[in-house]
Amino acid sequence: MQVVILENPDAVAEYGSQIFINRLKSSPKSVLGLATGSTPVALYKKLIEACEAKEISFSDVTTFNLDEYLGLSGEHPQSYRYFMNEQLFNHVDVNTANTYVPPGSAENPVVACKEYEDLIKQNGGIDIQLLGIGRNGHIGFNEPSSGLMSRTRVKTLTKETIEDNARFFGPDEFQPHLSITMGIGTILDSRKVVLLATGENKADAVRDAIEGPLAASCPASALQLHQNAVFVVDEAAASKLSQCDFYKHIEQENQKLIQQLATL
Ligand code: F6R
Repeated sequence: MQVVILENPDAVAEYGSQIFINRLKSSPKSVLGLATGSTPVALYKKLIEACEAKEISFSDVTTFNLDEYLGLSGEHPQSYRYFMNEQLFNHVDVNTANTYVPPGSAENPVVACKEYEDLIKQNGGIDIQLLGIGRNGHIGFNEPSSGLMSRTRVKTLTKETIEDNARFFGPDEFQPHLSITMGIGTILDSRKVVLLATGENKADAVRDAIEGPLAASCPASALQLHQNAVFVVDEAAASKLSQCDFYKHIEQENQKLIQQLATL
């Protein structure tokens, strides 16, 4: 795993966005896996800016989102479809027909999960998957105890996740306790994974994911099995890692190598 430790959330968004920008410059017809939540918002802003500056285009891009609340339609302001429209899709030249979010209002969610998996396969799989991380180590809505090879399915949210996300819902508003989420196995199938984490409240989860044992108690630890996973974290989120200096040293060496290769 590559661990990149940066000064602050803006540097995290900048580094993360450059991975997507470089990918879209070299392969405009990419399949991107996307996430919601607070963390990727700054990265999406940078992608919008790059698109406005005509540096990149989303016109040939296909996207698959990680998860959706079960019971919310895409028109619901708290749905993840609505979030994606507001935070990214409405501001770039993507063809909305090529943007997929698990259908929260599916009549038969079990069938819908299988169809979502099939759709990802039909589109050739995900080139880069963007992830955030929950305080409990969840990725997507794969809560602790999720099967490490799980596929897209209906998942019950933990009390902790419901509390963390309550900030987005009004006091009397219905807040779903169920979701449809890509499985950990689905995420591991992506050709590259980019996980962003900022803030001290993510420090335990980041430590367990990077340095802890591979364990269902920290779903993000499954990324230790991935051949091309990068954690981009700020100093606060990295504060409980025991090998910070080593990760920074590796990143310096990586950057030197990239510069050397560029001169060849
Ligand atoms: C969102 C998702 C979640 C979030 C995680 C962190 O699609 O899958 O796993 O990435 O809950 O959320 P924030 O970024 O709000 O801290």
